[in-house]
Amino acid sequence: MSIGRSALGFLALAAALAAGGAHGQAKDKAPIDAGPYVPSPQSVVADMLKIADIGPKDFVIDLGSGDGRIVLTAAKVFGASGFGVEIKDNLVKESNEAARLQGVADRVKFITADLFKTDISRATVLTMYLLPNTVNMLKDKLLTELRPGTKILSHDYPLSGWIPERYVQMDLEDKIAISGVTTTLIYLYMVPAKVAPAYTAAMPAAVSREPVRLNLRQQLTRVSGMARVGGRDVSVEDGKLRGERLSFRLGVGGRSYEFSGTVKDNAIVDGTVAGGGTKGSWTAALAK
Ligand SMILES: C[S@@+](CC[C@H](N)C(=O)[O-])C[C@H]1O[C@@H](n2cnc3c(N)ncnc32)[C@H](O)[C@@H]1O
Repeated sequence: MSIGRSALGFLALAAALAAGGAHGQAKDKAPIDAGPYVPSPQSVVADMLKIADIGPKDFVIDLGSGDGRIVLTAAKVFGASGFGVEIKDNLVKESNEAARLQGVADRVKFITADLFKTDISRATVLTMYLLPNTVNMLKDKLLTELRPGTKILSHDYPLSGWIPERYVQMDLEDKIAISGVTTTLIYLYMVPAKVAPAYTAAMPAAVSREPVRLNLRQQLTRVSGMARVGGRDVSVEDGKLRGERLSFRLGVGGRSYEFSGTVKDNAIVDGTVAGGGTKGSWTAALAK
């Protein structure tokens, strides 16, 4: 990943704002410092939606929807529904008119509002192409409002401190006019479930005949901690969350076991464990 070139791109974007925006939007009387309206090239829109593996069951929300192209493409090409939120009323009018002309107005709409004050909890896919500080100011809102497993796609700017599921870098000539460099990045994140600090787990006898206490510490998608197995503390290794799906490794009695399970309603369900010739299931409930 080329941080230096990304930073250059940001400077060029900021310069575009100072000069009146790439599309002359300085005349807009936006009540907040919304930054410039800079459309994602259509090829980036298509790539973002493909990376999210979007389909008719998805509800897409684009934060700062500009001319509506992300939500319109999601509806027209991929059959999804959703909405865009945009502070600049002229762009919202243009987007709703485009939805009508493209025959998708029954599935998508665009609203004039501050994205920070918009309820985003319905999203299964959330997209954004916003300035880096705006992206980072959104982190708490994303974690609080979005359901575990919701996909977040950010064009060019990462959520600092979050580990992406995937990121794609490409060079696009179209970006020179926008950000001064060809570098284009798409980050895909998945909202993690919230893991409780302690569980009591029932595991296959090969791992432990007694209930195992799991003390866990979560940092976004990473999980660390200790398991109390047979009177000994064992490190929880390589703990990761992919939406609701938790996976980790435990070394017990000289054998390494791979665990996975679904974090749901104060429990871990549908657990599978494999290792040392054993395959079995496990569950965990909140520790008392
Ligand atoms: C870089 S453009 C991206 C447009 C579109 N998402 C795309 O990718 O083509 C960012 C848009 O976000 C809007 N925006 C920025 N801050 C906003 C806020 N707080 N509330 C609503 N819209 C905002 C801007 O007005 C601008 O149109």
